[in-house]
Amino acid sequence: MKIGILTSGGDCPGINATIRGVCKCALNYYGMEVYGIHNGFRGLMDGHINRLTEESTSGLLTLGGTILGTSREKPFKKASASLSNNKPSLIIKTLEEYGIDCLVCIGGNGTQKTAAKLMEVGINVVSIPKTIDNDVWGTDFSFGFDSAVSIAADAIDRLHSTASSHQRVMVIEVMGHKAGWLALYSGMAGGGDIILMPEIPFDIHKIGDTIINRLKKGKPYSIVVVAEGINTPEGKKAAQYIAEEIEYETGFETRETVLGYIQRGGSPTAFDRNLATLMGGHAVELISKGQYGRMVALQGNKIDSIPLTETAGKLRLVTEDHELVVNGRKMGICFG
Ligand code: F6P
Repeated sequence: MKIGILTSGGDCPGINATIRGVCKCALNYYGMEVYGIHNGFRGLMDGHINRLTEESTSGLLTLGGTILGTSREKPFKKASASLSNNKPSLIIKTLEEYGIDCLVCIGGNGTQKTAAKLMEVGINVVSIPKTIDNDVWGTDFSFGFDSAVSIAADAIDRLHSTASSHQRVMVIEVMGHKAGWLALYSGMAGGGDIILMPEIPFDIHKIGDTIINRLKKGKPYSIVVVAEGINTPEGKKAAQYIAEEIEYETGFETRETVLGYIQRGGSPTAFDRNLATLMGGHAVELISKGQYGRMVALQGNKIDSIPLTETAGKLRLVTEDHELVVNGRKMGICFG
């Protein structure tokens, strides 16, 4: 059995740990051959593929990024309606040339959609959810998320001292694309006073009241955690907009920090290392049983899998009844 493995979409800590988990199980336990496909789906079209061995996996558990490289290539997306799209047939040809029996696709929502489309054209696929956004439907957590939360929470911790020293409002913008998971988890872990997410509309007057009420309680400073995807007037970055609005609304000196790509860098947390390892191993188990067309998923504390058709095209978003939101409100945290 020959499997091909590719990593697609935004990088994050834990991808290499997943590659390691797939390779070690496939090589040592199932006696399979493993081929690394470079730069996401593009590697299937330009044939940038090489054999992975036990030696390939050394040092991967703790290494950030992806040794295979990644891209946001979408092989089923036509350049224009008029042009024909020969990318899928190129992919099929490459897989036949290498005799690859099944693809392991590691990626976020876009990757899951492409994986489902590859199944439709007869290619065997098993996918593994990967994203710092934690917005892949069907899995409680994706690896990469815990590492990004830890990075963002550490950054928020550091903002408390400067906020209190200058009696300022510090606004920090975290990633998350269209979901608020990163803002919610890092905001709660970092002791944020105000946490704004795309899923929960905000009222700048309520935000101002929260800041003023803290002042009245002897806290002349506040920490505001903002997800990059909140609704702002055209083109305004989230943190910049919220900081301007707060300063206008309250008169407080306000400063913003955009954490950006730091959230995607560095070594994975222990949680992400183990989640990545388990998901990699489960993907190979599915392949050994011929159970294709499935995405590996963490459900509760169990590693399982769901049909790709169930997750493709769906987003997993924060809801008002999430326990961190409910508990945070009881504590007086403002969610907008
Ligand atoms: O999906 C991960 C992510 O980091 C999002 O949180 C962010 O909005 C996006 O990727 C940035 O995309 P790019 O890496 O293409 O700039």
